[in-house]
Amino acid sequence: MTIVLGIETSCDETGVGLVRDGVLLGQALASSMEEHVRFGGVVPEIAARAHVYAIVPTIQAALDDAGLTLDDVGAIAVTTGPGLATALHVGVAAAKAIAAATGLPLYGVHHLAGHAAADTLDHGPLPARSVGLIVSGGHTSLLHVRDLTRTPIEHLSDTLDDAAGEAFDKVARLLGLPYPGGPVIDRVAAGGDPTAVRFPRPLTGRNDSRLGFSFSGLKTAVARYVERTPDLDVADTAASFQEAVADVLTRKALLACQDQRVDTLVIVGGVAANSRVRSLAQERCDAAGIELRVPRLGLCTDNGAMIAAIGDLLVRDGAKPSSLDVTVHPTIELQTAQLV
Ligand code: KG4
Ligand code: ZN
Repeated sequence: MTIVLGIETSCDETGVGLVRDGVLLGQALASSMEEHVRFGGVVPEIAARAHVYAIVPTIQAALDDAGLTLDDVGAIAVTTGPGLATALHVGVAAAKAIAAATGLPLYGVHHLAGHAAADTLDHGPLPARSVGLIVSGGHTSLLHVRDLTRTPIEHLSDTLDDAAGEAFDKVARLLGLPYPGGPVIDRVAAGGDPTAVRFPRPLTGRNDSRLGFSFSGLKTAVARYVERTPDLDVADTAASFQEAVADVLTRKALLACQDQRVDTLVIVGGVAANSRVRSLAQERCDAAGIELRVPRLGLCTDNGAMIAAIGDLLVRDGAKPSSLDVTVHPTIELQTAQLV
């Protein structure tokens, strides 16, 4: 059985994981998040430079975590897109260097397919058909997922504007909370009343797109509310905003399951770590008789294990390795897990 080394550097996390036959053997993560806080968002050049420093020690730390050496590794998977070009290049260069030096096969993979594969490390193989809700800092999509590796992934909807995570980050800034906004809003909201402010539920009207998402109007509604409210209760506002996002995401994900007649919903990506998204999704899936799968918190946000997981699925599926000419695809849409 092949051990796959996965490398992730698409944004501000340097992640490395080792997976064999669907089992996570070890992983390590370095983050440049703190270097971006004072800028209120990820600065690509700073992220890329941090990856350069972190990549070799993080690979070694993941091997140590698994009790393995590079000699035990049978294949390499690396995120080639989407993401920040300069950041992606660091992981791709490292993966190519190892592949060239060792002769190991190399698989360029799509970051979002990695997010979806992360769940298989916790809950085993995906069923033949499922609905995937990918909610990250850059993407918000509802997908009809089959095998993840062979059949193209069908997009049922994509956000028309901001991604859900982006909305969390922007609203946090409006509330004077630091970057990244998602985890902070989650924490602050725990002490607030989610019914305090009735923020709009975008695209849920009778004539609106059934599965469509839009978060920039919601962000503007929060901005207006903040402007006109003198004694702003930050916890109540955060909780009410979070409730609106969780409501829209889970409502539409369940509609997609109904439309596709599937009985499994998989929620992945950074926003899948949100406590209210998780609890409301569970409530609604239980009521509808749908099985909900959400990875453990550490596998929701960016990590290397998820890239090793999708690489492992490709290897076991007999996929042909990518060539050493494989390059980065900063804006590529998710259709296939492997990027050649
Ligand atoms: O998947 P991810 O780590 O990176 C991308 O591929 O974008 O997602 C990062 C996003 C950020 O916008 C962050 O604020 C959000 O996920 N996030 C959360 C939580 N943890 C991370 N949003 C809401 N609640 C959380 N607990
Ligand atoms: Zn991600």
